[in-house]
Amino acid sequence: MLVYKTKVNLIKRINNIMQPSFSLGFVPTMGALHKGHLSLVKSALANNNFVVVSIFVNPTQFDNSSDLNKYPRSLAKDIKILETISKDNILIYAPKVEDLYGSKVKSENFNFSGLELSMEGNSRPGHFDGVGTIVKRLLQIVSPNKAYFGEKDFQQLLIIRKMVDSEGLSVNIIGCPTEREPNGLAMSSRNGRLSSKEYREAAMIYEILQTVKHKFSSEDIPSTYDWVLKRFNNNSLFELDYFQILDTESLGPVKEKKPNKKYRAFIAAYIGDVRLIDNIDLN
Ligand code: PAJ
Repeated sequence: MLVYKTKVNLIKRINNIMQPSFSLGFVPTMGALHKGHLSLVKSALANNNFVVVSIFVNPTQFDNSSDLNKYPRSLAKDIKILETISKDNILIYAPKVEDLYGSKVKSENFNFSGLELSMEGNSRPGHFDGVGTIVKRLLQIVSPNKAYFGEKDFQQLLIIRKMVDSEGLSVNIIGCPTEREPNGLAMSSRNGRLSSKEYREAAMIYEILQTVKHKFSSEDIPSTYDWVLKRFNNNSLFELDYFQILDTESLGPVKEKKPNKKYRAFIAAYIGDVRLIDNIDLN
């Protein structure tokens, strides 16, 4: 399988293979591919003639350099995994930092209308400007008809939709459901850093979210918050970063349930130094 290291060569190839009636799908990733990424690639392949998968660990979305340095990199393995899905219809774009940033590794400042203020935006300053910058640049290079993002990073998905809308980019953003380990843990490149005991215990995050969904239909919101905080306080392996029940569209806080509104529950928690996130639709 050919791997494109520069945008110039990638664009040349795209122009060669695409015909007016064809559809091009795009799956941006930071590599260390797992079944969650692959589910996005499979959806893209099922609905487009060709699919570009980008593999690029984006420096501007990391708020500390040790996290950036620790991020797993496994390009040769990633290529092999993608080859098992399709040899002919996937184009891999794996550039160096200069190909995307030139000599200025800097984020653009975006207005995400407050979507960036809570959760990951609050815990990781500058993170979403970095994500917006790289995804905008990648979309401009690849010019896909459809781009695929996981609901596991639900706040990211909404922020990308907002950015595409305000920048006037003509691409259809498709949200894909979260792929899970057999024990319910959301698949993540970080799961490989868990010990087998931690992996087993990490199933608690999704168990709690499922119970929250159940409680949401019958109990008030403050008592659900109390219950979740107690569950985390009673388990010394975890440190809770946040638990939030938010409006699905605005990601604004919710004091009481209203009909015709949609809600979602979000958790970020540390097991040791591994930070895990997950969320669930409550409607
Ligand atoms: P990365 O963490 O590699 O994720 C790439 C895509 O895979 C994202 O859309 C993410 O939501 C999706 N994904 C991750 N785990 C998933 C799972 N268990 N089930 C379904 N989808 C899953 O997200 C990023 O990279 C970066 O921020 C990026 C968008 C590439 C910009 O740098």
